[in-house]
Amino acid sequence: MSSSSVLTSPSPSHEVDAETDEELYKQFTDSVSSWPSSEPMPFLPLYRHDKGWYSSLMPMVGAMVADARFAARPSDIIVATLPKSGTTWIKALLYATVHRREHPADAAADHPFNSLGPHECVNFLEYQLYTNNRVPDLGRLPDPRLFATHVPFTSLPSAAAASGCKVVYVCRDPKDNLISMWDFANKFRAREGQEPMSPEAIAELFCLGVSPSGPYWDHVLGYWGAHVARPEQVLFFRYEEMKLDAAAHVRRLAEFVGLPFSAEEEEGGVVDAIVRLCSFDHMIGLEATKSGKTELVVGTAANSSFFRRGQVGDWANHLSPEIAQRIDAITEARFNGSGLRPSGTK
Ligand code: A3P
Repeated sequence: MSSSSVLTSPSPSHEVDAETDEELYKQFTDSVSSWPSSEPMPFLPLYRHDKGWYSSLMPMVGAMVADARFAARPSDIIVATLPKSGTTWIKALLYATVHRREHPADAAADHPFNSLGPHECVNFLEYQLYTNNRVPDLGRLPDPRLFATHVPFTSLPSAAAASGCKVVYVCRDPKDNLISMWDFANKFRAREGQEPMSPEAIAELFCLGVSPSGPYWDHVLGYWGAHVARPEQVLFFRYEEMKLDAAAHVRRLAEFVGLPFSAEEEEGGVVDAIVRLCSFDHMIGLEATKSGKTELVVGTAANSSFFRRGQVGDWANHLSPEIAQRIDAITEARFNGSGLRPSGTK
């Protein structure tokens, strides 16, 4: 591997002096518990990592354990997103693309998606794998291993950044991202007997940067900067553009991971079959979506909770023009000079 493919330093961000996995989790849990935290909003208290980002306790601990213990391979592919920005969709597209030979998308009735949701096919490092005092044995997984994370670029496991593995990022309009989180949080709050949050309350926190894996703008700019510096290592997609032309994005994704579609596959309609298989309308009707569940360290999630409307611009049904303008103004100011245009602009 050439040093030019190394994105950041390979040393873990936090000192580790634990002998057992359990001690490691305890050490990080004690650290995070002493950091500043928010009220239980949107649904759990959010702790402020010493690199400035927010997360609930156990995923943050999981991210730190992954930083210390994840043994990356250059062939790994990591989906990176903010929660509620299209993670489920890009996981499905990536899995269906990488595994298209053994699981053809046009044989939808036999596809693993009938029994497993995208989050069960592509696991989160910090919500599913590095959880419950456990350091998972991922060594036997065949290449390419597919993982996901919600952590900012600066907190990717150091070994992943150093390995030259590939990262697929999806960014979404902050207003739609926020409204999707608002709905998801209220479902969680209802289950826990908590009062629903208003869109105004969650928007206020969001603008202050207090959102899961936020501040939103730092997260997006971190991966954008990495993409600009190393486009062959970090792919940058926008949810809104994926909605406009999903097939073009599937082709780019396949090329990026080194598995471009052959002329025969193109002629055989494989790209369109993958787009159809992973479409909102198809996925929402699958039994794995309707009755399946995904175990996350913050609780068990019904697979159906990852599907709501799947549209661009639904924020307009929930946010006042004043709040929308406030978010747009922050976005313009923060993105200014980065070369990244706010979603929804040409
Ligand atoms: P909405 O709440 O706006 O409908 P995540 O997967 O990161 O949790 O994001 C969830 C959002 O992505 C939800 O947005 C959900 O409806 C949407 N989504 C899930 N699957 C999708 C798909 N196959 N195509 C488009 N959008 C999808």
